[in-house]
Amino acid sequence: MLSGEKIRVGIFGGSGYGGSELLRILLFHPRVEVTLVTANEHAGKAVAEVHRNLHGLTELRFEKTPEDFEGLNDVDCVFLALPHGQALEIVPRLPSGVKVVDLSGDFRLRDAEQFKEHYGREHTATELQREFVYGLTEINREEIKRARLVSNPGCFATATLLGLAPLAAAGAIKGRVVVDAKTGSSGSGAKPAANTHHPQRANSFYAYKPFTHQHVPEIEQTLGDVSAAHDWANELVFMTHSLPVSRGIFASIYAEVDEGGRMSADDLSALYSDFYRGSFFVRLVKGSPDINWVKTTNFCDIGFAARGRQIAVFSAIDNLVKGAAGQAVQNMNLMFGLDEKTGLMLVGGNP
Ligand SMILES: NC(=O)c1ccc[n+]([C@@H]2O[C@H](COP(=O)([O-])OP(=O)(O)OC[C@H]3O[C@@H](n4cnc5c(N)ncnc54)[C@H](OP(=O)(O)O)[C@@H]3O)[C@@H](O)[C@H]2O)c1
Repeated sequence: MLSGEKIRVGIFGGSGYGGSELLRILLFHPRVEVTLVTANEHAGKAVAEVHRNLHGLTELRFEKTPEDFEGLNDVDCVFLALPHGQALEIVPRLPSGVKVVDLSGDFRLRDAEQFKEHYGREHTATELQREFVYGLTEINREEIKRARLVSNPGCFATATLLGLAPLAAAGAIKGRVVVDAKTGSSGSGAKPAANTHHPQRANSFYAYKPFTHQHVPEIEQTLGDVSAAHDWANELVFMTHSLPVSRGIFASIYAEVDEGGRMSADDLSALYSDFYRGSFFVRLVKGSPDINWVKTTNFCDIGFAARGRQIAVFSAIDNLVKGAAGQAVQNMNLMFGLDEKTGLMLVGGNP
């Protein structure tokens, strides 16, 4: 990119929660011009009519998904913030010069059988899947810089993998790893459904999709990629829960180290500090992180505890920012040769 030139961006699925956050970030990104934003039921409406936080800040209107994708030749980058299954149809039709960041699960898994098992449909673009780079920025930074197609990780996967990758890379964990993860209700998208609607969740707490969450295979796939032996052989227990908040993911990760490899919380912090050197968006904290301090930001805060051979890692993100739109923009920045922080200096509030 020439300095000062703007990246022309199209957002598919701009009326949802992921799309809303993409707009909140990209409309004020110094090197981006949003030229197209699509919706389904909201097509034809002004963006600010649907996302009232953007009132007075944009004249854009939602358009229907274009019939003819050749018209997208003047777009440099497309973000897909659509329900699972849609990107599979759209990516093969995009002009080959357009870069893509897909927020759905369509292109995260290399194994088509696993995709079918967890997403309930055949993968119809396996050739293209091989071109996709998994967009966990802190782990795949160099590959993302060279990529045309990036598959953004799931929100639970982001919190879990950032919390586990340094231990996996060091080969420090022995035996079973338990991930006890919780999400706010915005993780289920903008359309209320009987079992995910906020009033059902607001003053309540429960587990869901026990052992079967669709992020399990992308977590295991990536742990295999980063693990010291390049073969993640540890047993993973992954449990997801509904938190009575609208935004935020908190993952508590429990594991054991060898008798000879005991680590204190400070030792863990030193290991992570080394692993995440140069990773601005991973912050190491004393004790437990708090979803309040990462809310509306692109930070992942990580804290530690240890007792004998037992270790605990706590990881907190905003599901819609580091878990979705923020990480997607971080990846776009790298794909276009920009500093990954560009447009992402979003600071949370206190309290
Ligand atoms: N929510 C999260 O925390 C989160 C985190 C990471 C990844 N993701 C992934 O990101 C993607 C978007 O999630 P979301 O939470 O933003 O979902 P959402 O709030 O339900 O939004 C979905 C968007 O897709 C549009 N859409 C729905 N059906 C369509 C169709 N048949 N054709 C064209 N457009 C259609 C909707 O338009 P209308 O509203 O106009 O109908 C809306 O703009 C999903 O794949 C999700 O798994 C979500």
